[in-house]
Amino acid sequence: MNTPSQYLFTSCQYGAENALKIEFAEIWPDWRLSYSRPGFVTWKLPESVKLALDFDIRSVFARTHGFSLGKVAGEQANGLADGVWPLLEELPVDHIHVWQRDETVPGSKGFEPGRTPLADEVAVLIRDARPVRAQDRPTPINRTARSGEAILDCVLVEPNEWWIGWHRAATLPTRWPGGVPLIEPRTEMINRAYLKLAEALRWSQLPMAKGDLCAEIGSAPGGAAQLLLERGMYVLGVDPAEMDALILANPAFAHIRARAAEVKRSEFSRVRWLFADANVAPNHTLDSVEAIVAHEDIHVRGMLLTLKLPEWDLARQIPTYLERVRSWGYKHVRARQLAFNRQEICVCALRNRSMRRFKPKGPKRGRRKGA
Ligand SMILES: C[S@@+](CC[C@H](N)C(=O)[O-])C[C@H]1O[C@@H](n2cnc3c(N)ncnc32)[C@H](O)[C@@H]1O
Repeated sequence: MNTPSQYLFTSCQYGAENALKIEFAEIWPDWRLSYSRPGFVTWKLPESVKLALDFDIRSVFARTHGFSLGKVAGEQANGLADGVWPLLEELPVDHIHVWQRDETVPGSKGFEPGRTPLADEVAVLIRDARPVRAQDRPTPINRTARSGEAILDCVLVEPNEWWIGWHRAATLPTRWPGGVPLIEPRTEMINRAYLKLAEALRWSQLPMAKGDLCAEIGSAPGGAAQLLLERGMYVLGVDPAEMDALILANPAFAHIRARAAEVKRSEFSRVRWLFADANVAPNHTLDSVEAIVAHEDIHVRGMLLTLKLPEWDLARQIPTYLERVRSWGYKHVRARQLAFNRQEICVCALRNRSMRRFKPKGPKRGRRKGA
């Protein structure tokens, strides 16, 4: 199949567009910025570039991406839905994903990314407008797709301006509507660190098992610990600040009320999984983590580290941060700005790829056809 379009769309956090541009200037220097709104950026490819349908965009800041087919705009939603299908021409569609561009930064003004009633309503309209001859079963809407399935993307840039795209699901985030997993907390969350870690675990697929010992640097008040405890882990929380009483009351939790640097290394000797979520500069977090994992008696198998980016320009340093983590003996290291992150990214590190529960399937990195 030919490349469906010489335009691509990317969905990102509200306000992260500059970080995305900094990143793409490095990894995709021949892509030209096209239309851009907070949380939504489109790109024009040179005519000579033909991307594989399931190419890997290798981006930290793009939540999801696809080929951009154009937009429909107007006041009547039914009319807009009718205008969607002609843009698809002969492209197959197994799923319909519709989402709204983020309206603000996650965690601000009560906003969290993910499914909205408006997006679901639009998805139903688009499904109902599908030409009858193509319908053998109702097309699933806003569900996680399987790898290889063809997806019609509709981004509600404004309620009356829909940008239509198409992609083939490959990596896990490209299977989620808008690159955002559906997280449904089992109980009342202590704070949104719960959401952040739930997404990090789903994205990273760390092969953790019930009963494993985890340590978290920057554990107070305890949303992340709450999730780990719910999943049957033992948790060592390191933080000079106070933990929530609910967490302290759990016998599977121990609190060391100190900064990471003040804790004896022997406290970490049985720790298998290390988490860091301290509100300090990235190099400070990495110093604290290195002092633990570089110790010969400590055998941390994998880590999820939150690196704060107080300035977006720090996006330039991400490759250096990842190289530093690799230098500690972690062979499989990658980063993503999670949908539930704020101005920060999540770094996942595994000592050995074979420890992953599943071997990665799908596209080769940045594979191009005839480029
Ligand atoms: C964003 S909050 C952590 C939220 C937490 N992960 C949760 O689940 O609720 C950042 C925390 O980092 C802690 N912190 C900052 N520097 C630290 C250090 N050097 N060692 C340990 N904790 C630190 C702060 O006290 C603060 O509680």
